[in-house]
Amino acid sequence: MPDATTTAPDTAETPGAPAGRAFPDGFLWGSATASYQIEGAVDEGGRTPSIWDTFSRTPGKVQDGDTGDVACDHFHRFREDVALMKELGLQSYRFSVAWPRITPGVTADALGPVEQRGLDFYSALVDELLAAGIAPAVTLYHWDLPQALEDTGGWADRRTAERFGEYAAVVAGALGDRVRTFITLNEPWCAAYLGYASGVHAPGRTEPAAALAAVHHLNLAHGLAARAVREHAPSAEVAVTLNLGWFRPEDPASAGDVDAARRVDGLQNRVFLGPMLRGEYPADVLEDTAGVTDWSFVHDGDLAVVRQPLDAVGLNYYSPSVVRHWDGSGDPAEKDGADGHGAAAGTPWIACDDVQFVSLPGPRTEMGWSIDPRGMTALLTRLAEEAPGVDLYVTENGMAAPDVVGDDGVVHDDDRIAYLRDHLAAVLDAVDAGAPVRGYFVWSLLDNFEWGYGYSKRFGVVHVDYGTQVRTPKDSARWYARAAGAGALPA
Ligand code: NOJ
Repeated sequence: MPDATTTAPDTAETPGAPAGRAFPDGFLWGSATASYQIEGAVDEGGRTPSIWDTFSRTPGKVQDGDTGDVACDHFHRFREDVALMKELGLQSYRFSVAWPRITPGVTADALGPVEQRGLDFYSALVDELLAAGIAPAVTLYHWDLPQALEDTGGWADRRTAERFGEYAAVVAGALGDRVRTFITLNEPWCAAYLGYASGVHAPGRTEPAAALAAVHHLNLAHGLAARAVREHAPSAEVAVTLNLGWFRPEDPASAGDVDAARRVDGLQNRVFLGPMLRGEYPADVLEDTAGVTDWSFVHDGDLAVVRQPLDAVGLNYYSPSVVRHWDGSGDPAEKDGADGHGAAAGTPWIACDDVQFVSLPGPRTEMGWSIDPRGMTALLTRLAEEAPGVDLYVTENGMAAPDVVGDDGVVHDDDRIAYLRDHLAAVLDAVDAGAPVRGYFVWSLLDNFEWGYGYSKRFGVVHVDYGTQVRTPKDSARWYARAAGAGALPA
């Protein structure tokens, strides 16, 4: 990985981001989190272990041996956190439900009893949000699969998708009278490829064929859950969140570079968009991966289940990618990119031996991720074309920075403000181009457990002192509150 330096552009000169530029009426300003990243209390309320409990306790898997055992202690402090959101004037909150809190005894063949204490926790959170005037958006799966299901094959096993549909029905039935939006899955790309191909995420497997089976079973799980939400929460919006990649060929005139972009676009974007929006897998992806699997895990009728009518698609966007044809020369450590998703174990990029991710010049966040807001505009306008009539949300966007609370008790995170301003301006560019973007959720409300990086990376607009659990809104939180209040880019 290259140096992780944080050098955001000078916002005063950022084109496209003039202060006062207004968002459409009703645009929703929110923040996002995920259960394992903030809740802690992993042994409370009847919760059983998830794959992230197992993975984080496996030496060498997570930086500094960090786990989600305590995290931000949100399980006990959610009222304080909702009050903070209210103080910041946020209008929506995207959080996830931990499946092992809801049906802790799930097995491959049976959902098992519902744990009322789990439902009660999320129900109380929803009520607290509504009392604060904040619309809940619930993600049903943000990567904390019950360990018992991994023990029988995890997402590589079709029964995991079937149980997920049943679990979704339970959550929708319990919360659906009060929740505005249900998001079936968060970033199935990460769950499948980082979990089962590169192994840098739980469950840490490096089996390409299993990863492609996981792709399909996640698609199936999405369809089953979307159907269940429709049935059990008829007044809620049904959505899915995808981390689409903005892939550009380094040399658009090079057939090899263009083909490299096609391949990764297939594996990250079209392998989810195709089934979910059109009920079909892209023929070129099936062909590219034919040496890895014959896709016989796709059964007759599956694609009709995957393709469910959606009210909204959520985009998580952080960083651009440029690819080139890889001829085997150069530094192999850089082959799969500087985004920390590549080199640690296997590769997430199946059947992409001839694709190289180009290390881009220019600013990067502390993750080592390049910054280019144009990807936000490009992906939102693409989604608007591919999913006509479907609302769009930015369900995540934000940056990691080496934030410290200064002697003045404040966190001066000017780089994050610049990042948010430029990406919000890019959202407006998409709106101007006709994309129906209805809201934006900053990642994240709080500093939290950043998966394989543990607590070493801070994405929050609110600083968390993990020793004392003191929350300190950063300058970016105040800036974002001004944007939310004005419905416009602040000065
Ligand atoms: C996407 C994931 O959904 C979230 O859990 C993660 O923390 C952020 N990206 C930052 O990496």
